[in-house]
Parts: sequence; C-alpha cells; structure tokens
Amino acid sequence: MNIAIAQSGGPTCAINASLVGVFKQGLLTEEIDAIFGSINGIEGIINDELLNLKSMIKTNEDMELLRQTPSTMLGSCRYKLPDFESDPAVYEKILHTLTVHRIEIFVYIGGNDSMDTVVKLSAYLKNISSDIKVIGVPKTIDNDLPVTDHTPGFGSAAKYVAATVQEIIRDSSVYSIPSVTVIEIMGRHAGWLTASTCVLRANGEEAPHLIYLPEAEFSSEQFLEDVRKEMAKHKAVIVAVSEGISVSDGSSEEFQSGKVDNFGHKYLSGVGKYLERLVADRIGCKVRSIELNVMQRCSSHICSKTDIDEAERIGRHALSAALDGNTGQMMYFRRVSDIPYAVTIEMTEASNTANLEKMFPKEWISPEQNQVTDAAVSYFLPLIQGEVNILMKNGLPVHFQRPLQMR
Ligand code: F6P
Repeated sequence: MNIAIAQSGGPTCAINASLVGVFKQGLLTEEIDAIFGSINGIEGIINDELLNLKSMIKTNEDMELLRQTPSTMLGSCRYKLPDFESDPAVYEKILHTLTVHRIEIFVYIGGNDSMDTVVKLSAYLKNISSDIKVIGVPKTIDNDLPVTDHTPGFGSAAKYVAATVQEIIRDSSVYSIPSVTVIEIMGRHAGWLTASTCVLRANGEEAPHLIYLPEAEFSSEQFLEDVRKEMAKHKAVIVAVSEGISVSDGSSEEFQSGKVDNFGHKYLSGVGKYLERLVADRIGCKVRSIELNVMQRCSSHICSKTDIDEAERIGRHALSAALDGNTGQMMYFRRVSDIPYAVTIEMTEASNTANLEKMFPKEWISPEQNQVTDAAVSYFLPLIQGEVNILMKNGLPVHFQRPLQMR
C-alpha cells in the first residue's frame, strides 16, 4: 500500500518533525511502499500534486535536518472542504487521486480547521464503504485544540516568545526616563502564547508586569489605570498583549484590515499599536509597541527539544493508529505529570476538536484580569525544556528545502 501526508494551517517549528515521524514509521512498515507528500495540504490531493518523499528524504541526515527545519516543507493551505451535499465534485477528485496512487492512509497535520477536513473526508470515505483511513496530527502555536494537553509547535513558539520578551526587558530598562513597552503576541482567540510569557518568573523576572488575554475582561480605561499603577513601581513597564483581545469600545475596526481567511477568521494585527497610541495620548510617556508577528511561528533557532521530540513521536503514533484500522481520529497528548514531566499519546474522534477552540482557563487569570497565576507557570515550563543542536552553516541555521524543480 501507499500512504500520503499533508500539512495544513499556519506554520510552526514542529510540523516537519511530525512529518518525519510519519515518514520514519512508514519506512519501518514493510507493507508500505510509496510515501507521498501532498503539496499545499488537501489542495495537493484535490489537484493531484504529490511528491514521492522517499526520493527527496534520502538519508538520516536529511531526516535530522528536516526535523529541525521550521514551517511546512510541503507547503500549506487554509482550505475548507465544502459539505459533500453541496459539492460532491471535490470529493470525487480526492477519491480519484487517492485511488490512482493506491493511497490507503492519509495523515493530515494541522489545527482545529484542518481537523474539519479529517472529519469530513473520513466520513465521506466511510459512507462510500472505502477502506482508506484518515488520521489527524495536531499542530498550532495557538495551543487552542480541545482534548490535547498541548499542541506540537506551541512549546517552541512559547520558548521564543519568552526569550524575546526577556531580551526586550533588558533593552527597555537602560534609560532613566519612564517607559512603557507593549508586546503583541499571536494566538487568535486564545491567550495561551501570551500567557506563557509568565515562565520568565521561574528565572526571577518580574516582567511582563501586565498580561492581557482574550479570555479576560478588557477595557481601555482599566488598561490605562493598570499602566499608571505599574509605572509607580517600575521605571520600564512591560505589557504582553494577545492579538485577539477585544477592545471594549469597538475600535478594533480602526486597526484591523477587516479581511478574513477561508474559515472566516479575521486577520488580527495592530492592537499593540492601538495601545501604544492610547498610552502616548493619555499618559504621555515614552512608549513603544512591538508586534512579534510571524517571527514567533518559525524561530527554530531557539526551538524546544521537548516540542520537536514530541512532534515526531505523535507523527509515528498517528501512522500506527491508521495501520491498526482507525480513521477519523486525532492523536493527542495526555499529561500524566508535571514533575517529572510525562505524557502519553492517545486518540480521540477528530470531531471533538474540529472547528473548536480550547481557551486559557479562567481560573488561571488574576482577579484584576491583567496577570496569570503560578499554576500557569507549572503548566508551561515543561513544554519549553531542552535545546536542539541546530546544524549551522556560515553562522546561520541550515534548513531542509524541496529541490527547486519540486517547488
Ligand atoms: O496558525 C495560527 C495563527 O498563527 C494565529 O496565531 C494567527 O492569528 C493566524 O494563524 C495568522 O494567520 P496566517 O497564517 O494566515 O497569517
């Protein structure tokens, strides 16, 4: 039999490690012949654009390099499969590609939107009595997938964000004049990544002095009051803010483009700038905003070894689960303990996660709605542990890339 792998959604440092996990398990499985990579997620299956991965990933060194290369080696998509009833033609194209290439297992690495594809495609295949199996492998820097303790890609993003915030703390505290620095962090509707900056506490940092999450209440007036209070205590105030907070007076239209992706999600960006202007106008001190933007998704030079190792492991388990006859499932992590840190890998119906979001727990948010508790520190810390020995060339990290003729 042959199998196919695809990657979908926003990039992370760990999606290629999951691909390597599936690939390695495929190499170990005698009955598997070709291992195909689908270009740009499910779009590659629809359009019959497949790569023979064995002819591209040839050596152990290739696998090691790909494992530590960020983003999606196969490209990605934000494609929403239509309902079968409204557009059967798309499903027929998918079936055609899978049948022509004798693909019996399709592994989809992605977030909550991508699990929608796992649900719809596996249901369609069951419905037509096909034996083709579809399995989901979670990933997202947002950490917002239900059921799983955390998502591959999150730990590396959290490690980069915390390390960067620490550097910003050093930078912003050199002058004698008071200042405010607002750092805007990704995460869409869930504040996990912004909240994870609290890990700096474990190393004795007091900042970020204020942390604002979409799950907490926010008002611009309260924000200004919080900043004033912190300015009375600290010369350089550091604020971590999630891109997804809703500013109570509805002014998000002023700083957002209003554009949405195929799943109807708004492109979020600009709340840091908005808060910067607010501080400048109403407090009048030195103020700067920094949007970490896409840097936090692919910063493999400071990725978490725990994250990369787990991403590979969950990829291996996904293929085994499909070989055992499972379909329509998503693999997930169940945390067994914080110290020593241990997880098991299990599976759940992909419908338990598709299009759903797991929010940062309200009980980990301070009563003032502007900080997180130490319980969050214990949750986050294990996920950022360990360093990957990144291969360097000319002083820069080396990345695995598809040969030019295959891009
Ligand atoms: O994949 C999740 C995410 O990185 C969110 O944190 C962010 O809001 C969104 O994707 C950005 O979307 P795009 O990949 O289209 O820039």
